[in-house]
Amino acid sequence: MGATNVPITTLGSGLAMPYLGLGTWTMTDADAADTIPVAAGLGYRMIDTAALYQNERGVGQGVRGSGTPREEFFIVSKVRGRDHGYDRTLKAFDETLDRLDMDYLDLYLIHWPMPGRDLYVETWKALVRILRDGRTKAIGVSNFTPAYIDRIVAETGVGPAVNQIQLNPRVTQRASRAYAAEHGIALQTWRPLGQGDLLAERVVQDSAQRHGKTPAQIVLRWHLEHGLSPLPKSVRPDRLAANIDVFDFSLTPAEIDAISGLDGTEIADDPATTEID
Ligand SMILES: NC(=O)c1ccc[n+]([C@@H]2O[C@H](COP(=O)([O-])OP(=O)(O)OC[C@H]3O[C@@H](n4cnc5c(N)ncnc54)[C@H](OP(=O)(O)O)[C@@H]3O)[C@@H](O)[C@H]2O)c1
Repeated sequence: MGATNVPITTLGSGLAMPYLGLGTWTMTDADAADTIPVAAGLGYRMIDTAALYQNERGVGQGVRGSGTPREEFFIVSKVRGRDHGYDRTLKAFDETLDRLDMDYLDLYLIHWPMPGRDLYVETWKALVRILRDGRTKAIGVSNFTPAYIDRIVAETGVGPAVNQIQLNPRVTQRASRAYAAEHGIALQTWRPLGQGDLLAERVVQDSAQRHGKTPAQIVLRWHLEHGLSPLPKSVRPDRLAANIDVFDFSLTPAEIDAISGLDGTEIADDPATTEID
């Protein structure tokens, strides 16, 4: 069992959440089962999965195979599109725990709001019930705009601990960041590395050279400098190690500004129209 050097942030309820976690989108069950023990040995404790990813079984196997106790992990999963609605979500949550072979989650999220179906409030009510039953330690949303969050709070009196959104230097989501800060919502960032070209950007490469770090480490540090919680995905041990080795240096305000200057070069998937299965 390896130690962890990842600092924690405290959610509104007092729950401790690691600042950086492992993304698992595109991992197969076998990838997740093989990768998580390596990641845990390097200090990863937060693992982001989803019913949609079809790898929850592998995530559970990886956690058990890691030698790190379940309670040290922070396991995140999400309710998929087809399971929106109160009863369906309760059932979907049971199925998620069955596949993971775990008896609780740390964080359960609504994957996308899909306002066209207008079931996200009912879905949220089911998450509130699951939270009150003690079967997840926290609940949150993903890809929710401030307007959707306002609505679930107005209808249930309960707000999300976390919003997980598409965010990196090319899509900095100013409005969602300001709203989250005002309402005490932690932001997890998906596609934190921009899945490609972002790492080749001149400003990122320049900072990497100055600090003796890799471009991915510079970008992950940019997230941390903003108080964001990135979820980089990798199945490669060298990249897993590099992506978590980001807690011993800082970017200067000028570097942060220069990298933030890339904003607008990636278009966020639209929460009003994105539909998932
Ligand atoms: N809530 C949502 O709607 C939503 C949507 C999308 C994603 N997510 C979550 O967010 C996680 C991260 O997003 P993502 O997987 O789309 O993108 P990402 O983490 O920005 O990028 C992952 C890609 O970058 C490569 N990579 C990883 N580390 C690298 C490094 N140090 N240097 C160069 N390349 C590197 C990976 O390849 P290798 O594996 O080959 O290293 C993979 O192809 C997902 O896995 C998922 O858990 C959530």
